[in-house]
Amino acid sequence: MTYALCLDYEREVPALRRIIDTSIKTQWTLADIDFEQKLSSDHYIRILEWQGALRSTYVRGLSDKKKEQLSRQFVAFDFSQILHGEQSAMMLAAQLVNCVEDLDAKIYASTQVKDEARHVETIRKVIRRIGPIYDVGPHLRQTIDHLINCHLWPKQVLGLQLFLEARALLSFRQHLLFVNDPVFMDSIQNIERDESQHVAFGIQYIARGIEAMTPEQREELVTYGVWLDRNIWSMTKSAEYRAIFEECDLDFDEFEAGYEKMSFLRPSTQGTAQSMKSIDAMHDTFHRWFYTALHRVGLSEVIERRLGRKLNEAEMADSKAIAPGALPWINHDYSVMRPTEGAERVTIKKLHAAPSRKKAPPAKKKR
Ligand SMILES: [Fe+2]
Ligand SMILES: [Fe+2]
Repeated sequence: MTYALCLDYEREVPALRRIIDTSIKTQWTLADIDFEQKLSSDHYIRILEWQGALRSTYVRGLSDKKKEQLSRQFVAFDFSQILHGEQSAMMLAAQLVNCVEDLDAKIYASTQVKDEARHVETIRKVIRRIGPIYDVGPHLRQTIDHLINCHLWPKQVLGLQLFLEARALLSFRQHLLFVNDPVFMDSIQNIERDESQHVAFGIQYIARGIEAMTPEQREELVTYGVWLDRNIWSMTKSAEYRAIFEECDLDFDEFEAGYEKMSFLRPSTQGTAQSMKSIDAMHDTFHRWFYTALHRVGLSEVIERRLGRKLNEAEMADSKAIAPGALPWINHDYSVMRPTEGAERVTIKKLHAAPSRKKAPPAKKKR
């Protein structure tokens, strides 16, 4: 294994110092989350809207109790994949401590190892509250294998900080539109704060590695960026959900057979349409951000290869308009319709302030 020993103990990297200082001020522990809060029967059921499961006549015909059981398993499955991702992030961040050259980068990467360990513990507890921990999906497994065995640290940073972490942050926000469990919300909010710092670290530091690369290494990085962009939405295939139907003693084949691709005639149409609008808006914002981040770190070739042409000046300006560290899909308060409550329109912030919450979130300094 190669490593870099930093012998310059005086040199500081100001951008990384700022992230290190923020991370010291925003540290939290599992004791900040009250995992003992009671689980209610309506905390997870709306996730069936997002998963499109209600388009299946088979699922629509299930009892409310069975629907709630299935909805919890959808979240347990998704968060099992995130749990495997968090464990991989812990291992990858540990590898980064060896590889990066600046002392500040080593210090921050070691902070990230500890953060990821806390995420593993938190998400494990969140999942155990609602179901078993599901196996890792083949696509995610392939991505993890590739990153762990990679010899090029900027490629690891690209895969971990700019892709897996940002992708997990998108998934967190999308789940928050549908899940109403205060334990889930508190956990996600705490993890989100750390992950935004990890993404900022990746963006700040990867450019240094890219500058020092040979043309062959740069080509490898660009090819990898194109691969990530192509595969960015398909980490989980629908057939992998068979396991959750088995967990609920339900028939996955019947679910698929009763699946209506387009259905506008069911009671929750209005709510689903609004929710899907917010989901689509999050996807668009995320994709724009991802391209901006690639552009900022000097990998515009990834975008150009995907488009099959050079970026024009307007597109260059557009990609500079979004601050890569801003993570706009987190800061925007997306709305969602709640058909079960008289088609009331709520937003994620309002959901967080719902009276069902029994414990105030830990007092944290705002970032
Ligand atoms: Fe994490
Ligand atoms: Fe992270």
